Formats: sequence, structure tokens, C-alpha cells
Amino acid sequence: MIDMKVMQEAPVEGKTVLMRTDYNVPLSEGQVTDASRIEMSLPTITYLIARDAKVVLLSHLGRPDGKVVEHLRLDPIASQLSELLDQPVKKFPDCIGEEVRHGVAALQSRQVAILENLRFHPEEGANDRSFAAQLAKLGEIFINDAFASLHRSHASLVGISEFLPSYAGLLMQKEIESLARLLKDPERPYIAIIGGKKARSKLSTLHELINKVDAILVGGGVAFTFLRAQGYAVGDSIIDETLLDDTRMLIKKAEEKGVSIFLPLDIAMAQAATAKAETAIYQVDDIPAGWIGLDIGPKTITAFAKEIKAARTIVWTGPMGMFEIPQFSVGTRGIADALAQTSAFSVVGGGETGEALTRLGVADIPSYISTGGGACLSLLRGRSLLALEVLRR
Ligand code: 3PG
Repeated sequence: MIDMKVMQEAPVEGKTVLMRTDYNVPLSEGQVTDASRIEMSLPTITYLIARDAKVVLLSHLGRPDGKVVEHLRLDPIASQLSELLDQPVKKFPDCIGEEVRHGVAALQSRQVAILENLRFHPEEGANDRSFAAQLAKLGEIFINDAFASLHRSHASLVGISEFLPSYAGLLMQKEIESLARLLKDPERPYIAIIGGKKARSKLSTLHELINKVDAILVGGGVAFTFLRAQGYAVGDSIIDETLLDDTRMLIKKAEEKGVSIFLPLDIAMAQAATAKAETAIYQVDDIPAGWIGLDIGPKTITAFAKEIKAARTIVWTGPMGMFEIPQFSVGTRGIADALAQTSAFSVVGGGETGEALTRLGVADIPSYISTGGGACLSLLRGRSLLALEVLRR
């Protein structure tokens, strides 16, 4: 595993410490609806407070595409954090500029402050060197605790380390140590359960993951692109037409390597993605026009549970259906129940999957829940990640 510089060796006493967190949390009507990522950052923050540091937090939220988007300001996060820490958290109206510089310079030891959404500036995503330098000027030491953003080569994750001594935070260390077990000689059979909506990013990960795992179970929104690529009609289910050829190529590659890909056998469908819509279970070779697939069906749950029972190492990312609506959370719960019945080492990756399990009251079932989805998969692909490379000793 990568030999990282860790924050325990950083001379943080009394210093102004810039700490990159991933507070990309779900919000509803201006309230944080799942604070797990904020809670997971608390050990690093309290470690710094206990050493009289001035803590300046940096995060993105959503994808504002380089513009100010009012509902993506970090104020609700500052309030939630302030409650959790039981001390005020100062919120700045921007992440760079004169006002922020003066505000940060006026902070006292043990004070915690948070800058505005980094992605309001296009330079963040472009890993712009001068933007990174402006951020770096605000502090003396950089700590990266944003595990969930590790697959992004952005200015606050990569460029900033050119200008400041940089270390991995406590959450970053815990995540990487836990995932190391999947990277180094995982016990076999090793299976991946893939769901969620982001077909493009899942597919590109799968191209590499098929070199590591023995089988892949595909559910959630991603499954419809797979089913369509295999020639099934999927009604009005959401698919990405541009990925069909690539999906076929992946299935062929998996076959050649002897990696089994399991697709849904039946689907819980509705005429609209709402709680009140009429629902029915359809076999995949009998999907009618006008219906939308919103969860895996009972036969699929049984088939997936059989594979889970036989596995010794499991990685799961992406819910099996639209878990926010109770009747479409059955598949996700079914997978969690199957995990509960095995002694295999299981890792759940992802904000969204973690959120689903918390909502369903089954978050204690997997061996480990990571705060990162995309980051977790990117790490498991075995690719080198720039944001991690800059923490190398
Ligand atoms: C996540 O939630 O996966 C991370 O915060 C990264 O978000 P992004 O996919 O918008 O870069």
C-alpha cells in the first residue's frame, strides 16, 4: 500500500491548517439529510483543535460548474458541523480573495472555519496552479481528509500540495487501510455488486475491475444499459444509448476472462417514478413499453443472494433501486440481508449506498462502509491517483 505522510507526524501545534474534506452531502430544503461524511471528519478536526491549530476547512458540494449556485453554498454544512462540534464554525462567503485572507488571518487558535464551495470557481476542477497557490496561501499545512474525492485531480486536492507540506488525515488513513484488504490478495471468490445511476463511470471502472474479481452482479439503474445492450426491451427505463457498444465489449471481455456477469432476471417496474404509481414485477424478456424499471425483482434478489453466499470478499457500490421510495428499496434491502448472512469480508463504497443502508437501518451489516463511491472503485481498479500520489512520503 502507498506509503503516505500522515498528519500525526505534522507539526500542527498552533498552525493554520487547511483541511480538505468531502462534504458533498445530500441536502433537502437547505438541511443536511445524511451527515455521515461530516461526522466521519470529526476525529481529524478535534485532533487539530486539541493541538491549538486554526482549522480552515475546504470542500466542494454538488457540481455547480464553476459558477455561484445559491443552493450549493456551504452554510447548511457549517451549521451542522457547528452543532456536531458544539462550537461556532465561521463560514466565509468565498474560498479565495482579500476578505477570506483577512478573515483567516484573524482566526484564533482552536477556531474552526469553512470556506465557500470550491467548485464555484472553474479553476478548481481545472487544477489551476495559481488558484491552488491562492488557496495554499491561506494556511501553513495541508491535510487531505477528503477520501471520497480522491479520484478527482482538482486544485484543492492535487495542485495545493505543490505549495504546502501535505499529509493524509485520519479518515483518509482509515479508508485506505480498510480498502488495502481488497487490494492485496482478497480471499476468493471475490465479487463486485454494482448499482446506482452513473453508468458511464461504473462502466469504465468495470473494464478494470474484471481483472480483479471473479463475478459481477449488476443491478440499479446501470443494469438497464446492460439489459438493452443484450437486446432486451427496457420500456422507459433510463439507459445510456452511447454506452451500448462499450457495454457489449465489456461483457465479451468478461466472458473471455471467465468472469461471470449476472444481470437482473426480473424488475420492479412502475408507470412513473413516484410513490403512488402502479407497480408490477416483470421478467426481463417481457418488459412492456411505457413502464420504468425502479428496482430489481424477487427472483434477482434470490439469484444475487446465492452468489453473495458463495463469496469470500465482496465490494458493493450503488443501490439496487430507487431506495428513497419504500417499495423500490426492496432490492437494496435484499442485498443487505444477504450480506448479513455471510461471514465474507464486505465493503460498501459510496455516499449513496451508505445513505441507502443508513436509511434502511442496516448500516451495521457490511464489514466496512467507505465514505467514497467513485473514489473507492478508482482505488480498487489499482490505478494511481494523483491526489494520493502527492501525499506520498
Ligand atoms: C462523491 O460524492 O463521489 C465525491 O464528492 C465526488 O463528487 P463528484 O463525482 O461530483 O466529483
